[in-house]
Amino acid sequence: MTRLAAPFPAARFRRARKSPAIRALMQENEVSVNDLIWPVFLTEGTDTEEPVPSMPGVYRYSVDRVVEAAKEGADLGIPAICLFPYTPMEKRTRDCAEAWNPDNLSNRATRAIKAACPDLAIMTDVALDPYNIDGHDGFVVDGVIQNDETIEALVKQTLSQAEAGADIIGPSDMMDGRIAAMRNALEAGGHTNVLILSYAAKYASAFYGPFRDAVGATGALKGDKKTYQMNAANSDEALRLVTRDITEGADWVMVKPGMPYLDICSRVKRELQVPTFAYQVSGEYAMIQAAAQNGWIDGDRAMAESLLAFKRAGCDGVLTYFAPAMARALNG
Ligand code: PBG
Repeated sequence: MTRLAAPFPAARFRRARKSPAIRALMQENEVSVNDLIWPVFLTEGTDTEEPVPSMPGVYRYSVDRVVEAAKEGADLGIPAICLFPYTPMEKRTRDCAEAWNPDNLSNRATRAIKAACPDLAIMTDVALDPYNIDGHDGFVVDGVIQNDETIEALVKQTLSQAEAGADIIGPSDMMDGRIAAMRNALEAGGHTNVLILSYAAKYASAFYGPFRDAVGATGALKGDKKTYQMNAANSDEALRLVTRDITEGADWVMVKPGMPYLDICSRVKRELQVPTFAYQVSGEYAMIQAAAQNGWIDGDRAMAESLLAFKRAGCDGVLTYFAPAMARALNG
């Protein structure tokens, strides 16, 4: 079929952008409050809310205060909260025993939040870095991160979190073989309905800086995490990690960081069709907030646009420090 050259454009895409109503009908993706998981930091004490300087708008909450925050989050319709403890320095030891203490900060917060907000899902972090004097996610011997010994500790940590009432276990440690070990232990321990959201494709990233400030790991960390976290240059490896973790028993998988790795989110979803989550990490949050505070960008619009990008890439959900602000924006 030939078409005569016309004195007008063959396709007017602008026609479908002409008004809010037409644009709404044309919209392919949408962020919903149902997509949000809210990461929060915990600290000892009572009635305490410490600002994290490198993350404007983010606080470390004492257990009584995190219960208030959780109620607020649940009222906004946020489905899940994710807990990260700031462990006092005197409780950080070489054997990391505080990690599986039934009364550690994370477990106390889990029980308190469950009692106050039974419908809010609680995700907990499995890794040794908040408990380790070296700041690493695993045991260190002569500068080498010990894979298999670390897994034994992670399994104890997993069981103590499940016993406290965690709904979703989030292993962020990147040891090999941890998912199978955790799944087996959860099954054997009667925690058959506790989910595992594996940090499957977690990259060794410069964007974790503010988080390490928030959990007090910045000064502690000796060296870097490149022998266990992924090389930023790799993409096929992420698919192999996701496949491996799903085979080992992960229910859901995560790509982390988020925005600089949207290509990975997209490949994971489109090539493997598994439940895919992204972590919009502390550095991504800090960049948007810093620019907004300087008046260089519109923070609310940048927040909404950044979260929409995850949906466009194919993510089922996003861990984001913007969760309450985004929920408020969505609830109008
Ligand atoms: C460590 C952990 C990190 C984050 C979550 N869990 C940092 C790291 O690997 O050093 C980063 C989250 C963020 O930057 O927001 N187990």
